[in-house]
Amino acid sequence: MQVERRRIVVLGTGGTIAGRAASARDNIGYRAAEVGVADLLAGLPAMDGIELQAEQVAQIDSKDMDFGTWCALARRCAHWLADDGVAGIVVTHGTDTLEETAFFLQSVLAPAKPVVLTGAMRPATSAAADGPQNLADALAVAAAPGACGVVVAFAGAVHGAADVQKVHSYRTDAFASGDAGPIAYVEEGALRLLRAWPQGGLLRGVAALAAPEAWPRVEIVLNHAGADGAIVRALVQDGVQGLVLAGTGNGTVHHALEAALLAAQASGVAVRRASRCAQGRVLPRAGDRLRAAEGLTPVKARVALLLELMR
Ligand code: SIN
Repeated sequence: MQVERRRIVVLGTGGTIAGRAASARDNIGYRAAEVGVADLLAGLPAMDGIELQAEQVAQIDSKDMDFGTWCALARRCAHWLADDGVAGIVVTHGTDTLEETAFFLQSVLAPAKPVVLTGAMRPATSAAADGPQNLADALAVAAAPGACGVVVAFAGAVHGAADVQKVHSYRTDAFASGDAGPIAYVEEGALRLLRAWPQGGLLRGVAALAAPEAWPRVEIVLNHAGADGAIVRALVQDGVQGLVLAGTGNGTVHHALEAALLAAQASGVAVRRASRCAQGRVLPRAGDRLRAAEGLTPVKARVALLLELMR
């Protein structure tokens, strides 16, 4: 009997998972985004009934992520998701902005198949590289029956795009989902599902994305002791179209910064109020004059506002 083979497309974008260092003991002084995605896959054991197809979409350190790369990645995902022979997609990505890309992709694709982002904290050349196991886990998630939505597979856990955050600068277990917790764990290639896969959340379809140079300008401003609003006035002067406040606590804001944000809002700038706290959500209050970003972190609230303001 002929066994039906399913295909997983692996899109490479760079990052430490594709990093190269001069020595196998160097986990810090490496160059990110050097090893091609096909070479990353070549080191992994074959999966029964699964055919892998590699495509290099970008080769960058994700601190340099930009709107053009996001658009290209979203279009390649949409292309492969529409292919009936493709069971799912894996995206290799740097860890530094991975949570923004994950939220962006869920917001423009809301896919009925899995799109699984992964990366590594140590370069591919490390004697103790974490990338191969993360990539193997991501492939297991992409092949799992019933999986859907944009998720992140990292250090044995699977996180949803809306909740995932990089929470550590160095350790290999660098991602967490805060109060929500992970969606699943990957244990020796098998999935232990804890809660539902991400669904919905579509803010704007891929076809409706503006050309990268026409994206609106949305900036994040931080509340802190002595925040006086000067930065907001400078940004408004410079033509900013949206502002996300990374407020303190429940999105609270110094009275001087609040005055500047309210003035910006009155002049037509869209303002959202998020929190710089690592966990929790901003709860709306009666009489709020700045709209709460609710469960979104400042960087994800910025992505949502970018998409909302796109014409
Ligand atoms: C990057 O984000 O591209 C570099 C850092 C990493 O992948 O861990």
